[in-house]
Amino acid sequence: MKLGVCYYPEHWPEADWAEDARMMRELGLSLVRIGEFAWSRIEPEPGRFDWAWLDRAVETLHAEGLGVILGTPTATPPKWLVDMYPDILAHDEHANPRRFGSRRHYCFSSQTYRREGARITEALARRYGQHPAIAMWQTDNEFGHHGSDESFSPDAHAAFRLWLERRYGTIAALNTAWGAVFWSQEYRSFAEVDLPGATVTEANPSHILDFRRFNSDQMVSFHAEQEAIIRRLSPDRPVTHNFIGDFIRLNHHDIGKHLDIATWDSYPIGLLSEGHFTPEEKSRWLHQGHPDFAAFNHDVYRGTAPEWAIMEQQPGPVNWARHNAAPAPGMVRLWTWEAFAHGARFVSYFRWRQLPFAQEQTHAGLLRWDRVPQPVTGEVRAVAAELAALGYLALQRADIALVLDYPSLWHHEIQPQGRRGATIDLCRTIYTALRKLGLDVDIVPATADYTGYKLVVLPSPSILPEGLGERLKVSGAVVLATALTGCRTEDVHLLPRPDLGPLPELLPMQMLRFESLAPHVTMKVRTEHAMYTASRWRETVETKAQVLARFDDGAPAWISHERAHYLATWPDEPLLHAALEILCAQAGIAVRHTGPDIRLRRAGGLQFAFNYGPNSVDLAPMGAPSDPSAYALGGPRLELGGVAAWKV
Ligand code: GAL
Repeated sequence: MKLGVCYYPEHWPEADWAEDARMMRELGLSLVRIGEFAWSRIEPEPGRFDWAWLDRAVETLHAEGLGVILGTPTATPPKWLVDMYPDILAHDEHANPRRFGSRRHYCFSSQTYRREGARITEALARRYGQHPAIAMWQTDNEFGHHGSDESFSPDAHAAFRLWLERRYGTIAALNTAWGAVFWSQEYRSFAEVDLPGATVTEANPSHILDFRRFNSDQMVSFHAEQEAIIRRLSPDRPVTHNFIGDFIRLNHHDIGKHLDIATWDSYPIGLLSEGHFTPEEKSRWLHQGHPDFAAFNHDVYRGTAPEWAIMEQQPGPVNWARHNAAPAPGMVRLWTWEAFAHGARFVSYFRWRQLPFAQEQTHAGLLRWDRVPQPVTGEVRAVAAELAALGYLALQRADIALVLDYPSLWHHEIQPQGRRGATIDLCRTIYTALRKLGLDVDIVPATADYTGYKLVVLPSPSILPEGLGERLKVSGAVVLATALTGCRTEDVHLLPRPDLGPLPELLPMQMLRFESLAPHVTMKVRTEHAMYTASRWRETVETKAQVLARFDDGAPAWISHERAHYLATWPDEPLLHAALEILCAQAGIAVRHTGPDIRLRRAGGLQFAFNYGPNSVDLAPMGAPSDPSAYALGGPRLELGGVAAWKV
């Protein structure tokens, strides 16, 4: 477990580098990411490489014992390259090329850019592949950011047609899969198929879903081309890519197969401001970020590759959100520890020094631009010392698996059945409910092996892979599925046998009807002993299974058969909590109520607790010992930003 930082030697006078490196080491950092935007300095003119400065930068960091994470610079193709080959530019929906002047302006399908990306990657990997300073490689930077997953360029068009041909084989198969007879959308050949943009009204959902699949595949293959070059020339160094928080346009399970370590960029306060949180949540956690934002993403990315880490950790106010509050004192330490408690191999802060020019001037660094350390450096120093004392934290598998399926998330966005509620929000809501019961959660693909899990939750994945029901049954886990689970085939057609329900191996039920409801509509849901509410979705099902709760008109709202449960709605928080508590009891999982602000996580024989809230909290009701010597970090009372860890 290490600490690191993102550094841009090309932004600073060379005379500063040695002192920067010395200060990094002295602060307790041991990894430095460089290079991911430096193409115009590495190759200032076509074919003329300037390695001298980068050699010296790498050597300077190495001399302080810092490991270098070297980025391939393909997120920022330089001006001369764009002018030489305008076909590398991505195009918007109206077929206008995106312009040079920021970043991520390239098209993943451009054959020219594939060639140029491979060329610069090969040059870098040849130069540094065996250099002892190189600890890891990062490909590109944040695939898909700024809407760059989609391009409507001529190259994208051609590549999409080929992709479709490979997927369907014949145009007749495509017409059937897309239901193209509807509105006379039938094609006579693959050459006739357009990209699904700028249509008069909604485009065909199967067409859009295939475009999403294609875009994700293009990002994966773009990465895989660089990965192959790096593995050939630098075979003993791990490969990573840094993903975006709360980003679902890339199928991370697919790209994870090409990574040794998945990393992601954690900006909890930036994304509180940008995210779909209520005004109360935005003000309660203004200086902390939502208590489940980082953890949810940690668990998503942990589920994609053999290892995971944070490549960019917010160190202060950022520049890009609607509102850019500063983290409360202690929060950077808390976020760092929470990442380690979820199994992070390292946490790297973004960035070393705030930059006094260009787009990100108002984005904090660990140091001010004149190298004055910011208060946050005290927190980083503290974590470095604590890490040295605590050592390695081994993780064990959680008892609970939450299923995340990218094509299903895409399908719900493409054909949402009502404006309220994307299933990614339902995933987060369920995740929060589990965490407020003090539980650890693994987030896994729908194709996972569920052996060993005690509870598996399916948050309305609409497309279920072959054999899922059987695998769930064999695992013996208690299963909870919510409305609309398994409601579509792979081609997003409605199920051919709705009378069998989506999971016939587990639940005898028949799907009759689905409704989506406006914000002011709340439905009552009654169990034998209590009354709850639900909103947004109501599914009408018929079943011979046990009915544990009913809607007001008597229709089943919560059905249960042996170890499987189905909520035919989007449960409001009290109903969700009640259901999860009952399911945990059935699964033999002990729960602890954390309240709104405390989160727990077990790692390395320690029980961690984190306080995201404004108030001081006594941890005794959550099982924390009173003996101070039982604590590796903190104690039984936690202030805002506090971290405790006790032996279990
Ligand atoms: C990330 C990006 C970095 C930097 C940072 C600012 O999305 O990878 O290059 O722009 O945001 O917060």
